[in-house]
Amino acid sequence: MESIEIRETVPGDLALIEAVYRDAFPDEDLLPLVRALLQEAQVASSLAGLIGSTLVGHVILTRCDIAGSSDKVALLGPLAVDPARQRQGIGSAIVRAGLQRLEDAGVSHVYVLGDPAYYGRLGFVPETVVAPPYPLPAEWRGAWQSISLRGAEPPCRGKLSVPKPWLQPALWAP
Ligand SMILES: CC(C)(COP(=O)(O)OP(=O)(O)OC[C@H]1O[C@@H](n2cnc3c(N)ncnc32)[C@H](O)[C@@H]1OP(=O)(O)O)[C@@H](O)C(=O)NCCC(=O)NCCS
Repeated sequence: MESIEIRETVPGDLALIEAVYRDAFPDEDLLPLVRALLQEAQVASSLAGLIGSTLVGHVILTRCDIAGSSDKVALLGPLAVDPARQRQGIGSAIVRAGLQRLEDAGVSHVYVLGDPAYYGRLGFVPETVVAPPYPLPAEWRGAWQSISLRGAEPPCRGKLSVPKPWLQPALWAP
């Protein structure tokens, strides 16, 4: 892989971030979610992957809560890599960098709704104790996953409480 630089995004990156999501998700408009999250105080990390000066990938990690628990937790997503640059390890590199930043910030668990074949390689396992914000259809249950950072204890049972941009049932249904 060509060397990739991973850094926090700045407001001037927005058009390039939007282009990556448009290209990576031609059938799904994630731009309203991405734009809203980038305005959100609870976003812990908005990371870009760059090859040279070209922005080729992006992920957002958002701080969330579990009611009744003081655990510091986060939700990963969305994640996108320029289709011309997929399967070169860029998505994995960005996710790993994001998880490291969260671990350094004391976050114990990170949740994701995504393809288990992909996130399983990064250490995510199916999550059964903490529920997603909306009930998932049976065929999506395996897509709800989590990773424990720094050998954290399992979190309390509960439901993940997410900030407003994620409070849209359509984002949690096929
Ligand atoms: C999913 C995505 C972020 C992965 O980024 P990437 O840089 O291509 O991924 P990496 O190179 O780090 O890893 C790719 C590996 O994961 C595996 N994999 C599993 N599911 C995959 C998927 N849906 N897309 C790409 N790779 C996938 C592949 O086997 C691949 O390994 P291989 O090339 O050795 O077979 C990127 O492909 C993307 O933006 N896809 C379009 C949108 C999408 O499907 N998003 C779903 C996110 S949940």
